Amino acid sequence: MAPARNLSLSYSTFVIALLWPAATLAASIASPESCPVTNNHCTCLFKGPFYSLRCNSMREMTDFKAVLPSIGENAAVLELDSVHLDFLPLNDLSNSSLHTLIVGNSSFQRLHNSSGMHQPAVNLHHLSLENVTFHEKVQWKQFSNLTNLQVLFVYNTSVQNVIPANFSQYVSKHLVSLTVTESNITRIERNSLELLTNLTALRISYNNLRTFARDVLPQTSKLEQLRLE
Ligand SMILES: *[C@@H]1O[C@H](CO)[C@@H](O)[C@H](O)[C@H]1NC(C)=O
Ligand SMILES: *[C@@H]1O[C@H](CO)[C@@H](O)[C@H](O)[C@H]1NC(C)=O
Ligand SMILES: *[C@@H]1O[C@H](CO)[C@@H](O)[C@H](O)[C@H]1NC(C)=O
Ligand SMILES: *[C@@H]1O[C@H](CO)[C@@H](O)[C@H](O)[C@H]1NC(C)=O
Ligand SMILES: *[C@@H]1O[C@H](CO)[C@@H](O)[C@H](O)[C@H]1NC(C)=O
Ligand SMILES: *[C@@H]1O[C@H](CO)[C@@H](O)[C@H](O)[C@H]1NC(C)=O
Ligand SMILES: *[C@@H]1O[C@H](CO)[C@@H](O)[C@H](O)[C@H]1NC(C)=O
Ligand SMILES: *[C@@H]1O[C@H](CO)[C@@H](O)[C@H](O)[C@H]1NC(C)=O
Ligand SMILES: *[C@@H]1O[C@H](CO)[C@@H](O)[C@H](O)[C@H]1NC(C)=O
Repeated sequence: MAPARNLSLSYSTFVIALLWPAATLAASIASPESCPVTNNHCTCLFKGPFYSLRCNSMREMTDFKAVLPSIGENAAVLELDSVHLDFLPLNDLSNSSLHTLIVGNSSFQRLHNSSGMHQPAVNLHHLSLENVTFHEKVQWKQFSNLTNLQVLFVYNTSVQNVIPANFSQYVSKHLVSLTVTESNITRIERNSLELLTNLTALRISYNNLRTFARDVLPQTSKLEQLRLE
């Protein structure tokens, strides 16, 4: 087992650290007065120099599409709560300024538009799925187009129950924080995190995991925080 050296670096430290570049970029153009007006489902908050949009109770794709203009070039954070759609419309976010997407208490038939091509969501650095049901369980390889992700947080969400040996070929190599909790993970295969050389926080808690082999991790690991309770 790799040494869990320093437990003081918290999840929120990561989030703030990751948002900072976006925040400074947006500083020149965003102001509280110009926080974009949104539709009935959303509220817009001016948080420091960037916008955060929080939308809830959307059941129609047209409701989601109506939000896109509000995201514009200054929104860094989008939170979706109680959204029930056929799929998570990541394609529509592929060119947006969003750094952080938080989806909670929601359900989808599947992760992606099954009939569309999946463009890389280039700016997305942080994805959280919290209490999300995918009727067609999400396979890890479906994260492969989120190429710049640094934080992946999965809580009580229907994902593939095995972290497979080639997991680190599927997900972003830039991951610094990976959390998969309360999601019925039964097995982590050897070498599965091998390519995630910048991973500093790993939390795989409240699953059905019995063993965790040393060679799951990269050989030269930067891990500072490991939680497997
Ligand atoms: C994103 O930008 C690329 C290149 O400019 C373009 O081909 C693509 O259609 C855009 N995607 C969306 C969803 O607007
Ligand atoms: C999910 O619902 C709980 C309580 O019902 C709430 O506290 C939480 O913020 C919601 N999650 C998200 C991501 O909106
Ligand atoms: C799903 O993808 C197809 C094919 O690219 C596209 O025509 C359709 O508009 C997409 N659906 C939504 C809701 O974005
Ligand atoms: C990733 O995007 C490319 C196009 O940019 C597409 O050909 C490929 O099918 C996508 N992969 C996944 C897993 O969505
Ligand atoms: C998950 O759902 C439970 C039950 O509705 C709720 O109490 C909890 O706050 C939710 N957690 C998150 C992170 O949304
Ligand atoms: C998990 O999510 C479901 C809804 O998808 C909710 O009913 C349940 O309370 C959640 N469990 C926990 C431990 O948050
Ligand atoms: C985990 O498994 C239990 C028991 O089969 C099930 O009730 C629960 O919904 C599963 N959780 C997720 C996130 O799929
Ligand atoms: C991942 O492993 C599976 C089973 O070993 C294999 O079928 C698949 O082609 C591999 N994918 C990649 C991207 O290497
Ligand atoms: C890992 O972190 C270093 C230092 O911040 C950075 O230069 C490098 O590009 C990162 N590698 C990946 C794969 O993200």
